Amino acid sequence: MSVAMVTGASRGLGRALAGELAARGWDLVVTARGARALAETASELARAPGVRVTAVAGDVSSAEHRAALVAAARALGGLDLLVNNAGVLGAEPLVPLAAQPLEGLREAFEVNVVGPLGLVQEALPLLRAAEAGSGAGTGAGAGSGAGAVLNISSDAAVVAYGTWGAYGATKAAGDLLSAVLAVEEPALRVWWADPGSMRTGMMAAAEPGEDLAGLPAPEEVAPALLRLVTEGLPSGRYTAQELGAAGAGEPAAEPGVGGGR
Ligand SMILES: NC(=O)c1ccc[n+]([C@@H]2O[C@H](COP(=O)([O-])OP(=O)(O)OC[C@H]3O[C@@H](n4cnc5c(N)ncnc54)[C@H](OP(=O)(O)O)[C@@H]3O)[C@@H](O)[C@H]2O)c1
Repeated sequence: MSVAMVTGASRGLGRALAGELAARGWDLVVTARGARALAETASELARAPGVRVTAVAGDVSSAEHRAALVAAARALGGLDLLVNNAGVLGAEPLVPLAAQPLEGLREAFEVNVVGPLGLVQEALPLLRAAEAGSGAGTGAGAGSGAGAVLNISSDAAVVAYGTWGAYGATKAAGDLLSAVLAVEEPALRVWWADPGSMRTGMMAAAEPGEDLAGLPAPEEVAPALLRLVTEGLPSGRYTAQELGAAGAGEPAAEPGVGGGR
């Protein structure tokens, strides 16, 4: 069986990605801070036939928690895929940089940048040891002989939207760390992907007055992102919009624009 770890899996995009993986037979380690919502999600995920789900509640900005997550993956047999999805805005609702609380910026860097890199560091021995496409027949990392990392980005990483500056700075930092990781660990697949705007709790908290009715649910976006895994696409930056288009299978030459934050 292949094993994936999904952070921020209790709701929104993380939950949708974990659901797609469970439906394909992946064993899962899932995390979020809120233990009750995480436990509910984990029991739903575990309804998929033959799927083992380990839920470990905690904060990805804690080194102890990251070590516990990787220990949970080791107990399931290893780690083939790390999905760094958990994210925070740094201010709710979003505000211009002139009013950005610096403590919120620090927290956003801890959760969106430091935590994900810390998890990569902790998980690298397992990811390097992962067998290509083991068990679930997913083709994850096919031909690479090692595991994969999917870091969830945003188009706020590359576009100067007013009020999205602090959050966007964390996503830009995550993109660069992802790109360098792909260079330094060529045996791994490293994808950083912009899901586009979605109808989630984060989006509602960002701009409370906005009507989100026209945005896709994360369950509509997750299948496009899963193409990275199921098709073992090359390391690089992707957008869900491009991945959702038939035949798209190369990383964006230019960082994707349009379609969301
Ligand atoms: N929604 C959009 O339109 C959009 C667009 C572009 C990119 N994104 C990105 O997509 C990802 C998912 O966003 P979403 O909209 O699905 O957000 P969401 O609905 O707010 O869900 C965020 C998830 O992350 C968890 N989380 C937050 N802080 C955490 C922490 N410190 N440690 C562990 N878990 C934590 C949350 O649970 P707890 O609060 O219980 O911890 C929850 O499970 C994020 O990286 C976001 O930046 C979203």
